[in-house]
Formats: sequence, structure tokens, C-alpha cells
Amino acid sequence: MAYDFTGKTAAVTGTSGIGLDAALHLARQGARVFLAGIDADLNEAARKAAGDLAVSVHQVDVSDDGSVKAWFDAIAAVTPTLDILVNAAAIQTYGTIETTTPADWDRSIAVNLRSCYLTAHHGYRLMKAAGSGAIVHVSSVQGHANQDGVLAYATTKGAIHALTRAMAVDCARDGIRVNSISPGSIRTPLLEFSARSLASDGQSEEEMIAAFGRAHPIGRVGKVSETSALIAYLCSDAAGFTTGADFLIDGGLSARIGV
Ligand SMILES: NC(=O)c1ccc[n+]([C@@H]2O[C@H](COP(=O)([O-])OP(=O)(O)OC[C@H]3O[C@@H](n4cnc5c(N)ncnc54)[C@H](O)[C@@H]3O)[C@@H](O)[C@H]2O)c1
Repeated sequence: MAYDFTGKTAAVTGTSGIGLDAALHLARQGARVFLAGIDADLNEAARKAAGDLAVSVHQVDVSDDGSVKAWFDAIAAVTPTLDILVNAAAIQTYGTIETTTPADWDRSIAVNLRSCYLTAHHGYRLMKAAGSGAIVHVSSVQGHANQDGVLAYATTKGAIHALTRAMAVDCARDGIRVNSISPGSIRTPLLEFSARSLASDGQSEEEMIAAFGRAHPIGRVGKVSETSALIAYLCSDAAGFTTGADFLIDGGLSARIGV
């Protein structure tokens, strides 16, 4: 389904995987996109991938107040209003309550959760000025139920569901809808990192990704085009009565019980 985002402006975080693809998808449907990422090489690759599309790529640390504020100051210098905010930047950490270090805990909370607060906090004046808009936080199926050893990551993703609800209730009066999506395994650099981290001896990255796929009733991992389609819907007028909700996009992963 294609939507018309002509004349709309969008801020998106994450210059690879789900964030990058969502940015390109919105831009192909007419949006002017401001894309933020921390990794200079990924940012350069994102610029190349965007080609002639109206996508500007910004060097931003989404966990840092000053950096996020500077990003929105740069956006405000170009446009007085912002219609769409998509938060996809995040890191994956592994560890239990015993093995998660305070540094990993703090970094996970800062990059995965604080970022969603900071971008909305600094972007809000521009969205309010637009008079209507949509925010999509990218959570995870692991905010609902999780594998072993993802203490900090799962905590951030569960908290994003609460943040989404709280924001939706407050922002409705300004015409701004707030939803989250909770993907299962989606083929991105983060999933490839997970596959390398979790592979047992002799198991290749591809074998591990195929095993992830078999855990999903649909029998495969998801594609970024599938998350982008859902994000675009939630940002479109077609979702005008939808706010405060989380949308699983997990190939049935969380519908299956493990017995
Ligand atoms: N791929 C999956 O299977 C999967 C499943 C569930 C949820 N998710 C979520 O989807 C979102 C996107 O992940 P992805 O799979 O596209 O992974 P990805 O690693 O391709 O994308 C994450 C991006 O965030 C950026 N980033 C990390 N720290 C940053 C910081 N401090 N400031 C700015 N940018 C920073 C990275 O450079 C990277 O470009 C994340 O929120 C992730 O938790 C992914």
C-alpha cells in the first residue's frame, strides 16, 4: 500500500536496517526526511542509498541530550513543522541480572529508551506546530516475552510500550498519535550481530538466521520492507483513529507456546 506523504516532513533515527528502510520508504512516497545515526560509515552508506530522494543524513548520538537538541535545531532551520517521528536506533546487549554490567545497563537504557524520550521532547514543538502528526517507536517482541539473557534490552523494549501509552494519552490533544511496533526477527545488521553472538560452535551466521526463521510460525525471518509498510501505515491518515497501541510484526512468534 502506498501513501502520499507529499509535503510532509519526517525525522527518523537509525541509518541502517529498519530505520534506514523506513526513511527511504517514506521519502519514496513524498516525505522530506531527516535521518539520524551515530556511525559515520553507516551514515555515508545511507546517503548513497538515498540517492536523489529528499533525505538528509545527520550525525547524531540519540542518547545524548545536546546532540539530539542540535539535530532538531538543524531540522528547525529547514522546516517550521514536523509531521512524523520514527525512533528505530538501538543497540542489542546480552546478559542476565548477574552478568549485565552497570555500563551495559546504562548504555541500553540511554540508547534504546532515553532516545525515544529525547527525540520526542526536542521534536515536539515542531510537531505541535504542524497541528497533527504521528510518532512510531520501534520496540521489540522482546518487550512482550523474551529469550534468555537479554535483561537490559528487554527492559528497554517493555518500557517503550509504557512510554507509548503515556505519550499517546498526553499528545492526543495536540493531534499527535503515538504507537509502537514490536518486530520479531527482521533481517538487519542487528539480527546478523545476534546470529553471530548466539551461534553455537560450528554454526554459521546463515544457519543461525535460518534457525531464527524456523522459530516463527511463518517459517522465516521478516524483511525491512515489511516493517516499513507497517510504519508508513501508522504514519498515514489511514491510521487516524489509532494511538497508544503496540503492533506485533513477528511472523506469529509470540502466538506460539513452546511446548
Ligand atoms: N532486526 C530485528 O530482528 C529486530 C527485532 C526487534 C526489534 N528490533 C528493533 O528495531 C530497531 C532497529 O534495529 P535494526 O534491526 O534495524 O538494527 P540496526 O543495527 O541495523 O539499526 C540500529 C541503528 O541504530 C544506530 N545507533 C546505535 N546507537 C546509536 C546512537 N547512540 N545514536 C544514533 N544511532 C545509533 C546504529 O548505528 C544502527 O544504524 C531497534 O530498535 C531494534 O531494537 C529489531
